[in-house]
Formats: sequence, C-alpha cells, structure tokens
Amino acid sequence: MTTFWSTWICVLTIGSLIGLTWLLLSTRKGETKGSVDQTMGHSFDGIEEYDNPLPQWWFMLFVGTLVFAVGYLILYPGLGNWKGILPGYENGWTGVHEWEKEMAKADTKFGPIFAKFAAMPVEEVAKDPQALKMGGRLFASNCSVCHGSDAKGAFGFPNLTDSDWRWGGNPETIKATVMGGRMAMMPAWGEVLGEEGVKNVAAYVRHDLAGLPLPADSKADLQAGQQAFSTTCVACHGANGQGTEAMGAPNLTHPAGFIYGTSLTQLEQTIRHGRQGHMPAQNELLGNDKVQLLAAYVYSLSHGLNTERLQAEDNRK
Ligand code: HEC
Ligand code: HEC
Repeated sequence: MTTFWSTWICVLTIGSLIGLTWLLLSTRKGETKGSVDQTMGHSFDGIEEYDNPLPQWWFMLFVGTLVFAVGYLILYPGLGNWKGILPGYENGWTGVHEWEKEMAKADTKFGPIFAKFAAMPVEEVAKDPQALKMGGRLFASNCSVCHGSDAKGAFGFPNLTDSDWRWGGNPETIKATVMGGRMAMMPAWGEVLGEEGVKNVAAYVRHDLAGLPLPADSKADLQAGQQAFSTTCVACHGANGQGTEAMGAPNLTHPAGFIYGTSLTQLEQTIRHGRQGHMPAQNELLGNDKVQLLAAYVYSLSHGLNTERLQAEDNRK
C-alpha cells in the first residue's frame, strides 16, 4: 500500500473514532436528576416523546466498542501499513505469504530427500519405495487429469504403463519428455491423397500393418494403399510402419498403442485431418527434482517395478 492510501485509511479510521467519541459524549445528558420524564415538548395526537438520558449500560456498551476498536487497531494490522504489535502479522493478513512460508518449510524439510533422488540414476530411483510413493502423489496431482489415475491413458492420451512408446521408453527419454514436453505433428493428408486415397491407406494401415480385419464388403485397394504409404508415410513411420521415436511417430504395427482409435473411421479421420498431440512441459512448473521422481514412477509402471501397485490392481480384479 502506498503511503498516501495508508495515511488516508488512518485519517478516516482515527477520525471516525474521534468523531464518534465526541458525538457520544456531547449528546450525553448531564445529570438530570429530578427532571426525569421531561418531554420534548411536542405532541402528535396526544403521543409525546420523552427526553431522557441514555441508560448507563447502553452508554457503557458504546464506550466498550470504542475501547475495543482502539485496542484491536493497536494489536493487529488494520490501520494502513501498521502491522500491529502482536508478532506473526509482519506481512499483514494476506494468505499469499502464508503459502510461501509453507512452501519454504516444505522445501527445507523435503529438499534433501529430493536432492538425494535427483543425484541417483532414474532406474535406481524407480526401485526406491519412498521415491515411488512421492512420485505417485505427484502423478495423481499433475498428470492424472490427462493420463488417468491409473496412468492407462484415454482417447488422445497415451497409456504410460505398457511397452508402447511414442517418444521412447528408456529412463532418460521419459524424463526428457516430461521436462520439455512434446509436440507431435502428424500432417493432414486429405487434400494430398484425396478421399479415395485416404480410404485405401487407412485400410492398408489397419489390415497390413496393424493386423486387424477389414469388413467383408471392403472395397479398399490395399495395393494402392501400400503405394501411398511407401511414398507419403515412410519418412516418419518407417518403411515397415514401425515408427520413429525422434518424431513421436507411433509404431503402426502395434494397434494396442494407438491413441486415436483403430476403427477404419477413426484411422481415416486421423489421416485426413492429421493429429497434434501435445504433452505440456513440466520443467518450469515442477522443476528437475520432482520430474526425476515422476520419470522414475512412470518408468516403474511400465517395467513392473511398482509391485505394490500392481498387486493392489490384481486384488481389485
Ligand atoms: C511428418 C511425419 C509424419 C508423416 C509423413 C505421417 N505421419 Fe502419421 N503420425 C505422425 C505423428 C508424429 C503421429 C502422432 C500424432 C499424435 O500423437 O498426435 C502420427 C500418428 C499417426 C496415426 C495415429 C496413431 C494413433 O496413435 O492413433 C496414424 C494412423 C498415422 N499417423 C498414419 C499415417 C499415415 C497413413 C501416413 C501417410 C499417409 C502418415 N501417418 C504420415 C507423423 C507422421
Ligand atoms: C494436458 C494433458 C497432459 C498432462 C497434464 C500430462 N500429459 Fe503426458 N502426454 C499428453 C499427451 C497428449 C501425450 C502424447 C503426445 C503425443 O501425441 O505424442 C503425452 C505423452 C506423455 C509421455 C510420452 C509417452 C510416449 O508414448 O512416449 C509421457 C512419458 C508423459 N506424457 C508423462 C506425463 C507425466 C509424468 C505427466 C505429469 C507431470 C504428464 N504426462 C502430464 C498429455 C498430458
């Protein structure tokens, strides 16, 4: 608060208190013993108004609130920039600093633990039960909105517990993915290939690459589909459709890892309009030490290290 506003508030508050005190005292009737039940002197249809002093208890109540107000304003923040004489309100009433204080406390408490795990290789961290517990909690609050609380993904969001990796599943790559985020770029092919071409290549992907059946009445030309694939798609998905991790281009021979669906309609949609999956970067939000725990947690999920969790899941089945 600027000095001007602080002074303004002080003047208003103290001025009001002084004014009210004056009003209270100046309107107080002197001792009017003997002249009780005087009337104001006017009469409306025979109804008259007494002119009696305030009852003593009523007067003291006013005095009490004034004393309370003054005492409160001395002890606690309230008068502009005045912090009060009680300890603990150096920053005023705001909760922002409370939160910062809590975070600083947490950092001094957990800092050494984070530092210990940050100095270990991710694979080793992934074997530490305490680290996995912390990683699991971080995952629940930062990642489960998209990847699901069981990390098994959803439409458009990859399953992190299996062995299908779009960007790579070794510990360092997982960590790089989470730290820096990923922006997948599958171009739209509708205009290049035409509607016929899209249908053919979708059928080729589904049947020849992913190994899934086509409807009996399918009129798709698989040969033409393969032709189109070998000219338009190999650059990213590879000659055999096995994918390229550097580009986040998924393996098309393993339909379990598809995140946009495997039906012909869904495949055509993907090929016609393209897809741009975006994994948001966490380096600024969470920082290296927390991402280290998350990478270890994710790695453990897909490598069967998180036995406690797997057992809990088995029990549920
Ligand atoms: C420039 C590189 C590039 C080219 C060329 C390319 N793709 Fe892709 N493709 C990608 C990337 C990257 C993704 C992942 C998109 C995402 O995760 O959002 C992808 C995703 C897909 C998917 C969805 C898989 C899933 O997870 O559901 C299919 C199907 C696919 N591509 C087929 C094709 C076909 C067919 C062609 C050729 C007509 C092709 N792609 C050409 C990069 C490419
Ligand atoms: C806003 C939604 C969103 C949030 C939040 C999110 N992710 Fe992702 N994540 C994605 C998407 C979408 C992809 C797939 C990107 C692509 O298409 O290639 C992805 C991909 C990944 C991958 C790569 C998977 C692969 O197959 O290579 C990892 C690892 C990952 N996320 C971990 C995390 C972790 C850990 C967190 C929590 C800190 C997190 N994600 C939070 C949306 C999200």
